[in-house]
Amino acid sequence: MPDILEINHVCKRFSQNGSIVEALRDINLNVEEGNFVSIIGVSGCGKSTLLRIIGGLETDYEGSVTFDGMPVTAPSRKKGFVFQDHRLLPWLTIEDNIRFSLPEEQEDRESIIRESIRMVGLEGFESAYPKQISGGMSQRVSIARALSNDPKILLLDEPFGSLDAITKINLQDELLNIWKRESITMILVTHDIDEAIYLGNSVVVMTPRPGTIKRVENIDLGEPKKRTGPIFSRYREIIYREFFTEANSPFIYNL
Ligand SMILES: Nc1ncnc2c1ncn2[C@@H]1O[C@H](COP(=O)(O)OP(=O)(O)O)[C@@H](O)[C@H]1O
Ligand SMILES: [Mg+2]
Repeated sequence: MPDILEINHVCKRFSQNGSIVEALRDINLNVEEGNFVSIIGVSGCGKSTLLRIIGGLETDYEGSVTFDGMPVTAPSRKKGFVFQDHRLLPWLTIEDNIRFSLPEEQEDRESIIRESIRMVGLEGFESAYPKQISGGMSQRVSIARALSNDPKILLLDEPFGSLDAITKINLQDELLNIWKRESITMILVTHDIDEAIYLGNSVVVMTPRPGTIKRVENIDLGEPKKRTGPIFSRYREIIYREFFTEANSPFIYNL
C-alpha cells in the first residue's frame, strides 16, 4: 500500500508566559494506507499537538505534512477526529448529533446515519440524549459521528482515556473490528502501553520535552490478537524499556 501520510521534519514551538516551549522536534513518520499506528508517550510530550497538526487543526509549525498526496492546510471530512471527551451537543439526540456533522446536501444522509449508528452497536438509542447514555456509549456516538463522514483516516486522541477498564476493552475490540472491516487508516494517541500494543500494527514511542520519536516498533500479535501470553509480554517489555531505562525516570525504582 502507498503512504497516505508523510510527516517530514515537523517542529512545533509554543510561547508560554513569555518563554518558548519546544513541543515537537524533527518528527518524521510515514504511514502506509490502511495501517493502525499507536503513538504513545507521557502526558505533555506533544501527542495531541502532533495529532492536531496531522488533522489540520494546527497549521503554524515548521516542516511538512502530506495527506493523500496533498499538503495538509485545514481540517477536512476525510480526516475524522475522536477526542477523549465525546464533544456531543447536549441539546441534540444521538441521531441529530450525527446528522449535524453531515452536510445538508449529503446524498443518502438518513441511511448513512442509520449505518453509522449500526456500526457502533447503538441501534435503539437514536432518540436518546447524551446525558441519558453512559460514557462508553457517548464515545461510540463520537466514533459513529466520525465514521459517518466516510473518512480515509481516523485520528483518535486518547479516546478511551476516561472509561473504566472493561468498557475500554470492549470499545478497543469494536474499534479493531471497524478497522478490519472498513480498512480506514487509524492513528491512535494513548498513554496506555497495553492499548498501544493491542491496537497498533506499529507503536511509535515519543519522548517528552522536546517531543521526539524515540522508537517505532512493528507489532505482530498473530490472528486473532491476544492481550495476554508470551508474544504480548515481549512487546510490552520492549515498550516498557523505552520508558523506564536510563536516568530519565524516577519510576524505574518501583518496577
Ligand atoms: N496552545 C498551547 N499553547 C501553549 N503551549 C501548549 C499549547 N498546547 C500544548 N502546549 C504545550 O506543548 C506541550 C505538548 O502538549 P500536548 O501536545 O498537549 O501533549 P500531550 O497530548 O502529549 O499531553 C506541553 O508542554 C504543552 O504545555
Ligand atoms: Mg494530549
